[in-house]
Amino acid sequence: MEKGSLLYTGKAKNVYGTNEPDVLWVEYTNQATALNGKRKEQIANKGQLNSAISDLLFKYLTSQGVTNHYLKQISTTVQLVQRVTILPIEVVVRNYAAGHFVTKYNAPSMQHLVPSVHEFYFKDDALDDPFMNDEQIIALAIATQTELKLMRQQADMVNILLSNLFKEIGITLVDFKLEFGYTTEHQLILADELSPDNMRLIDDVTGNSLDKDVFRNNLGDVTVGYQIVLTRLQKLFTKL
Ligand code: C5P
Repeated sequence: MEKGSLLYTGKAKNVYGTNEPDVLWVEYTNQATALNGKRKEQIANKGQLNSAISDLLFKYLTSQGVTNHYLKQISTTVQLVQRVTILPIEVVVRNYAAGHFVTKYNAPSMQHLVPSVHEFYFKDDALDDPFMNDEQIIALAIATQTELKLMRQQADMVNILLSNLFKEIGITLVDFKLEFGYTTEHQLILADELSPDNMRLIDDVTGNSLDKDVFRNNLGDVTVGYQIVLTRLQKLFTKL
């Protein structure tokens, strides 16, 4: 597989074409951002850790029947994925109150949310990714009712699978963000990455954050928690 031209520069990944029209080359970088890109730092080893964690989680979801864009890892920071056109919607699922759910609604931190909460955000840094309800999304032709239903169903499935997986390694999945995209055959599938940059993970014993909140809240070296997540996942998957 040959690396093609740069298609997209993200906050923590760069996406290139390849010599295969339906395959993209994704490079995980060491960049960490907060406040929708307004704060940026380079953090050694973060790209490798996220790439390795995302590799394991996508392979697990694939084994459980969740269709997604992931193909394979070809180096410590490079993955091949199916070409998709990403919908400009972020799908957030919350199992416990944290982050913006606490600051927006004054909910007690870590309140168990029953049912789990789905939220959609319009991906637009300049607008600070505003929240959108179903009617706003449909009326502005950002996604259809069918697409919203499918994304909710897929997000629920991912939530059940990943919550149970993390439970087995002593970690609570507090919340997470997913993105979806259209394949060249116009199938809407799960895409992007699955890493502690995009989910809140709490150690069940210590209560420590093992995710990007450590960076957001200046609580020390963010990669310590990421390494814990990776090591526990690796141990679990060697047992399975
Ligand atoms: O900030 P907020 O509480 O809305 O985040 C909810 C979840 O979505 C967190 O796990 C966070 O890491 C993730 N998220 C993300 N990218 C964004 C916004 C939120 O990965 N742009």
